[in-house]
Amino acid sequence: MKRIAVLASGRGSNFQAVIDAIRQGSIPAECVGLVSDNPGAYAITRARSAGIPVFIVDYSRYSTKDEYEADLLRVMKSLHADLFVLAGYMRILGAGIVREFPGKLINIHPALLPSFAGLHAQRQAIEYGVRVSGCTVHFVDEGVDTGPIIVQSCVPVLPGDDEESLSERILKEEHRCLPRAIRAFCEDRIRVSGRRVSIVGEDSAPPA
Ligand code: GRF
Repeated sequence: MKRIAVLASGRGSNFQAVIDAIRQGSIPAECVGLVSDNPGAYAITRARSAGIPVFIVDYSRYSTKDEYEADLLRVMKSLHADLFVLAGYMRILGAGIVREFPGKLINIHPALLPSFAGLHAQRQAIEYGVRVSGCTVHFVDEGVDTGPIIVQSCVPVLPGDDEESLSERILKEEHRCLPRAIRAFCEDRIRVSGRRVSIVGEDSAPPA
């Protein structure tokens, strides 16, 4: 059974989708910790009700990002996780941390990457005028939302949409895609070849 840990800064609805999928037996893993940079995150309440250990590394208590990340790294290492899931973790992980966990960090992003990386992806999509958007689960590399793509799903952008209505539509897909990617990881069905990722048993044509 794989050990997974989740990093979240806020509401934690994606984290909840992961908790539910583990409970239902569709992700063969144990969630060994929730790590949050924000002591007010609702994700913490979700972890406590699910009996998942909580580790708070309160960003506001540090004077530099390096000091914060040194403690964050210590906590992450102590968890001995096979996979770290960034589920609404609202900071960019420093290169030092990314290098410590090659192939073991994934993130969920509310747009079809490589479009609309960074913050406010849904607002960027509306303002750009795209007709479809969606979500992406990807490996984390040293860039911002640039790592190899594991799962994507698209939704329409409708004429009357605002940031909120589009976010809601995308979120539903996030809650399907993130557990799906984690499940594939935990079942050792993910193959990476350069930028191209295939999921054994899901993709009919894996990359050469
Ligand atoms: C999601 O839209 C996720 O894609 C983005 O931040 C949001 C977090 O939502 N990175 P939640 O905390 O999982 O509810």
